[in-house]
Amino acid sequence: MVATTTVSQGVPVTQGSDVELLGVSKTRPKGAGRETGGLVLNHLNLRVEPGSFVSIVGPGGCGKTTLLRLLAGLEPPSAGHVHVGGQTVHGPSPRRGIIFQDANLFPWLSVLKNVTFGPLSVGVSLKDAEARATHWLTFLGLSKFLQRYPHELSGGMQQRVAIARAIVNEPDLLLADEPFGGLDWITREQVCDELLRLWHTTRKTFIYVTHALEEAVYISQRVIILSARPGTVAKVIEVNLPEQRWAATDLRFSPEYARLVEEVREIFAEQTALAHNSR
Ligand SMILES: Nc1ncnc2c1ncn2[C@@H]1O[C@H](COP(=O)(O)OP(=O)(O)OP(=O)(O)O)[C@@H](O)[C@H]1O
Ligand SMILES: [Mg+2]
Repeated sequence: MVATTTVSQGVPVTQGSDVELLGVSKTRPKGAGRETGGLVLNHLNLRVEPGSFVSIVGPGGCGKTTLLRLLAGLEPPSAGHVHVGGQTVHGPSPRRGIIFQDANLFPWLSVLKNVTFGPLSVGVSLKDAEARATHWLTFLGLSKFLQRYPHELSGGMQQRVAIARAIVNEPDLLLADEPFGGLDWITREQVCDELLRLWHTTRKTFIYVTHALEEAVYISQRVIILSARPGTVAKVIEVNLPEQRWAATDLRFSPEYARLVEEVREIFAEQTALAHNSR
């Protein structure tokens, strides 16, 4: 794929990578797999367009986190191929950023130092690292908190720092595993909007795992519903809602939004019922 570079408030930004999963299976060691004999993901095929925002939902234990771990290169598939930007994933890379449920900030470092840590460790100069970190922290509304420490921030602010830390390395792909699960709903909606705005500005490829079906519809262009374990793609729902959703205050009350949420909910319920019946 030919990378496209744009400029966001003076910072050059390269568009995200395409992602391709071809016949991906993952088997866990014997004993971990109950009746499925250790099979967690089963011949999963998925293509994510460069620069798109995709959500993944599926019954508990169907392999969502495992899938993100394969994409991040934290572990290899047992079969099949994981390609990001046309290259096979062989291990972790700063080109792929991850946001977990817990912000996992370094408690002994200031907000600014938490975010400069990544660029500095790959050889970016202090000046550039601070410029980039300040840019993204400001974008996320944290310009007044650069010298604060994580314990001085609310949960939502800590997750904003985690987002800045993931984006500051200019990844081609941003992976998020239920990043806002620990936040109250109002804060969660606000941080979701920040993430949407960030995606819209950077055009990185975002893959976002969530348990919240409404959130999946609200935040993404496509919702991938995984089957019960062993996980494979059960259904893909296209979300044809306006892109600048954070600016559309009544979007969550629109009939099309309600219809999409209902559609996702029905397929999700079918998959969850299958998961229960197979126990
Ligand atoms: N390191 C591991 N060793 C053995 N089994 C594991 C390991 N990690 C996960 N599993 C098993 O693999 C399956 C998929 O786990 P995974 O965490 O990917 O599911 P998930 O869809 O993210 O679940 P949740 O919705 O609860 O977050 C589960 O049955 C889990 O018990
Ligand atoms: Mg999980």
